[in-house]
Amino acid sequence: MKVFDYMEKYGHEQIIYFYDKATGLKGITAIHDTVLGPAIGGTRLFNYANEDDALFDVVRLSRGMTYKCSAAGCNCGGGKSVLLGDPGTVKNEAYLRAYGRFVQSLGGRFFTGEDMNISEFDVDNIMKETNYVNGRADMSGNPSPVTSYGVYWGIKAAAKEKWGDDSLKGKVIAVQGLGAVGYTLCEYLHKEGAKLIVTDIKPEKVDRAVKELGATPVKCEEIYSVKCDIFSPNSVGAILNDDTIPQLKCEVVAGAANNVLLDEKKHGDMLMDRDILYAPDYVINAGGVVNVYQEFNPPYNRERTLGIIKQIYDRLLVIFAYSKKNHLNTQLVANKFAEDRINLIGKMRANFIPGEKHH
Ligand SMILES: NC(=O)c1ccc[n+]([C@@H]2O[C@H](COP(=O)([O-])OP(=O)(O)OC[C@H]3O[C@@H](n4cnc5c(N)ncnc54)[C@H](O)[C@@H]3O)[C@@H](O)[C@H]2O)c1
Repeated sequence: MKVFDYMEKYGHEQIIYFYDKATGLKGITAIHDTVLGPAIGGTRLFNYANEDDALFDVVRLSRGMTYKCSAAGCNCGGGKSVLLGDPGTVKNEAYLRAYGRFVQSLGGRFFTGEDMNISEFDVDNIMKETNYVNGRADMSGNPSPVTSYGVYWGIKAAAKEKWGDDSLKGKVIAVQGLGAVGYTLCEYLHKEGAKLIVTDIKPEKVDRAVKELGATPVKCEEIYSVKCDIFSPNSVGAILNDDTIPQLKCEVVAGAANNVLLDEKKHGDMLMDRDILYAPDYVINAGGVVNVYQEFNPPYNRERTLGIIKQIYDRLLVIFAYSKKNHLNTQLVANKFAEDRINLIGKMRANFIPGEKHH
């Protein structure tokens, strides 16, 4: 697909290609929607096979940010940058500063931060040239622990919906992925008395969970078919599909991984038909974005932020209720709520306010 085809199909406001001859910087920024506020989204550096792959990635990721921000009640929109190159060779101070200057040139329509192959130290260099950076170590900091906190409350909401009680004591929870989010999540679940079954492609992470949290280990491919109350995906996307959904022996799916459903409609419906309650990915994993968003309302306050993140619990209960009443899968309900909020706020702002330019 060509650039304008994507923009027409997904409603992107702006897609910008940028290049810096001196440093070899090459990238694409996609600003999907700024009805609610400035676009926010990380910057990813990746050795894409070709420009089309980079465009596809940035289009998809920026749109996802719009939905995530809207669903989380944040007044910001979705954006993303991808830089094309080999992370092992292209990065240096001048390269990152050249990128920072490009971000600055957008005048605050787009705020960015870390993502794949762009570290906190890289962001320090980007910040030498732009004010439009968020999620910095000296501000809201690492989002993973607060993402885990939000997922924990989201799992409790799913338990409340499914069994009428949000206690996780004695519940068997199968956790896929023990990384930055998954491991801290396991600590919360263990503390509440859940029984953990875990897997990860890295054996040392599994060993740690066995030793510290009394978890039962299983092989990676076995995690879908273990008998459990809740399956919690916290690794890669697209893991729920035609092959894995029939294997599930759980009543709830709730975890941090992005884009868990290979196909939102088809696989969301398959879960619903099997009476498996699904907590939509970008609603339950919004802790990180809510955390970053608080930087727009300084001073950043951790306690207040955790309180806002805990609202994921109530947000999910509303989604579950709507899904049941309207027989619409929970992922599609989340999409509808996110779109409705953007449309409503957009209309609300359509009136004339003196001082705004109108002719
Ligand atoms: N970090 C955040 O704040 C945040 C926020 C929102 C969403 N997410 C999403 O949550 C997921 C986890 O994020 P993270 O920051 O913990 O990443 P991470 O890289 O720290 O952890 C991922 C873990 O999954 C394991 N893994 C990879 N493939 C696997 C497989 N096939 N089977 C089992 N384990 C596998 C990895 O070894 C690693 O331990 C990702 O999908 C991410 O997009 C993260």
